[in-house]
Amino acid sequence: MSKIYNKRLVNAHNMIEAAHQNKFAIGHFNINNLEWTKAILEAAQETNTPTIIATSEGAIKYMGGVDVVVGMVNGLLEDLNITIPVALHLDHGQTVEMCKKVIDAGYSSVMFDGSHLPYAENVAKTKEVVAYAKQYEVSVEAEIGSIGGEEDGVVGQGELGDPKEAAEVSKLGISMLAAGIGNIHGKYPEWWKSLSFETLEALQKAAPFPMVLHGGSGIPQDQVKKAISMGISKINVNTELQLAFRDATRLYFEAKKDLNDETKGFDPRKLLAPGYKALKTTFVELTTWFGCLGKADSVKK
Ligand code: 13P
Repeated sequence: MSKIYNKRLVNAHNMIEAAHQNKFAIGHFNINNLEWTKAILEAAQETNTPTIIATSEGAIKYMGGVDVVVGMVNGLLEDLNITIPVALHLDHGQTVEMCKKVIDAGYSSVMFDGSHLPYAENVAKTKEVVAYAKQYEVSVEAEIGSIGGEEDGVVGQGELGDPKEAAEVSKLGISMLAAGIGNIHGKYPEWWKSLSFETLEALQKAAPFPMVLHGGSGIPQDQVKKAISMGISKINVNTELQLAFRDATRLYFEAKKDLNDETKGFDPRKLLAPGYKALKTTFVELTTWFGCLGKADSVKK
C-alpha cells in the first residue's frame, strides 16, 4: 500500500532527521483558518523553509471538519505552487480512531498523545497508530510525561519525561518523541524560570532521538537554542502567532480603520490583512531562531 496524501505533502520523517543531524529544529505551526494557512505556506515558500502545518482536534472542529482542512491545505499547495517540504500533522490526537481518520482523509503526519493513559496502554495504542500509519507512509509523534497547561481542551500536569520510557517508546517506529521537560502550553506564567535541561540531557542519553518541544511560544531565545543543541528537532508554536495576529489586528481597530467607509476598511480582507502580515513576519523570526530558515534543500526527498 502506498501513501494517500497529496503528492505535494511529505511526511515529517526526513525533515526531522535532517534537523536532528544538523542541529536545527523544524517549526510546527498550528493553523486556525485560511489566513493562518496561507500566511505560513507563503512565508515558508518565500524563505525555502521546510515546515509542519498542524491542527489540534479542536481546530479541525472549528474549521468544519477534517475534509475542510485537507481540502484547504491541498488547494493552497496547488494554487500557490508550494514546492518546499510541507507536512500536514495532527497535533495531540487523543484516540487511535482520530489518528486513523485524519490519515484516511489525507494527513501526512500524526501525533498520538497517550500521555494521559497508563504507560502500557500508551505504548499499545502508539504501536497501533504506527502500524496503521506505516501502510500509508505517514510519520508518527508519540508523547511521554506531559506538557503543562491547557491547549484546546488537552490538559497536562507537566510531568517530566522518564528516560526509560523514552528509550522504549523511541523504538516503536515513531519519527519524533514529545516529552515533558518543564514546557507549558500557552503563555508562560511569571513564576516559570526554565526548561529542565537535566531532564532533556537524561532523555537524550537514554534515547538519542529527535525530540519535540511543545509550548514553543515565549521561551527565551537562549533556552530554545540550548534545547536544539541538545536534541530538540521540532518546536510547536501556537500562542506566539495568535498574539502576533491579535496585536496587529488591535492596531487596525485602534486606528479606527474599520470605520473608514471610503477605503472600505470594513472589508474582511482589509480587516484581516495586518494580522496576516504579522503571521508571516513572526514565522520568519521564529524559524530564524530555530535554524530551519532556508533549510528546505537539506531535507532528503
Ligand atoms: P504554544 O501555544 O504554547 O505555542 O504551544 C503550542 C503547542 O505545543 C502545540 O502542540
